[in-house]
Amino acid sequence: MENILEIKNLNLFFDRYQALYNVNLSLKQGIMHALVGESGCGKTMTATSVMRLLPKSAVIKSGEIYFKGENLLEYKENRMRNLRGNNIALIPQDPMTSLNPLYTVGNQLIEAIRAHSKVSERQALRKAKEVMDLVKISDIDNKLNFYPHEFSGGMKQRIIIAMALACNAELIIADEPTTALDVTIQKQIMDLIDEIKKEFKTTILLISHDLALVSNYADYVSVMYAGHVVEEAPSEEFFKNPLHPYSVALLNSLPSKNPALKLKTIEGAPPNLQEIIPGCKFHPRCEFFQPGICDAKEPALKEKAIYHFSACLIK
Ligand SMILES: Nc1ncnc2c1ncn2[C@@H]1O[C@H](COP(=O)(O)OP(=O)(O)O)[C@@H](O)[C@H]1O
Ligand code: SF4
Ligand SMILES: [Mg+2]
Repeated sequence: MENILEIKNLNLFFDRYQALYNVNLSLKQGIMHALVGESGCGKTMTATSVMRLLPKSAVIKSGEIYFKGENLLEYKENRMRNLRGNNIALIPQDPMTSLNPLYTVGNQLIEAIRAHSKVSERQALRKAKEVMDLVKISDIDNKLNFYPHEFSGGMKQRIIIAMALACNAELIIADEPTTALDVTIQKQIMDLIDEIKKEFKTTILLISHDLALVSNYADYVSVMYAGHVVEEAPSEEFFKNPLHPYSVALLNSLPSKNPALKLKTIEGAPPNLQEIIPGCKFHPRCEFFQPGICDAKEPALKEKAIYHFSACLIK
């Protein structure tokens, strides 16, 4: 299967420290690939590198980001802007960062549709209604005239997803799309993203710190720790047979379905990136730490089982 997105050896720096280390990520078309890890590990910086929407102080020193075989890092800004409207859509945690509070959602949808295809206002309106229907918004004629603030958080996320559909996005990057929503709405939005994946073969990069949610929806999982991808596997394999000690610790800290099982939390906190940690970045927190090995050499991702990669010197 063709890789629609391929990140190769991405190294991203801020002024005083490195935020991403040789990040590699390959997304096959039509799958949902989850990027997980504790806050601060580099998930959003990976996503914003693809969108080329990085903070001004961030510098990509090396690496390539291929979208359908073309290196986005070589694109001029106007070509990139065009791609953002047409091929790659972002669902952010806070939908108001993408919606304009001053315009009705109908106007915003119509504008988005007309910005990338030469259609009349009437045709754009028809398409706007069609995508609102696809994201299961009822009473569409009325809702088209609503301003974003008249919608709940979950409904605003539906509008963002409708925008992505209106533009026929081939890749949707969803960065903690349901973190701000309550559990029932969370499920509805994730079900909707999942349906879109299946119906339109849209590729989804799902960024989440919520492993329980990821286990229900993702086809592949990549785990990040302190700017490194430390494990990657098909989802089923990952949850059955996690290999990296950090992944195991993350999974052990999940509220289990078995209430008798005592929760283990991971000792310590993720490192401050300004701190220099020699060898494996996880070693100060790892129960399998071996002095002289884990603090001497940086582990690289290795295929330890079929399609199952882990970056650990011991396990
Ligand atoms: N604007 C910024 N300036 C400096 N450092 C930043 C900025 N944004 C993010 N970072 C750093 O990059 C690291 C990765 O951040 P991020 O990708 O947002 O993490 P995640 O999404 O996994 O929580 C963080 O540790 C943070 O310190
Ligand atoms: S390399 Fe060592 S410290 Fe790092 S995860 Fe493996 S066992 Fe733990
Ligand atoms: Mg983030």
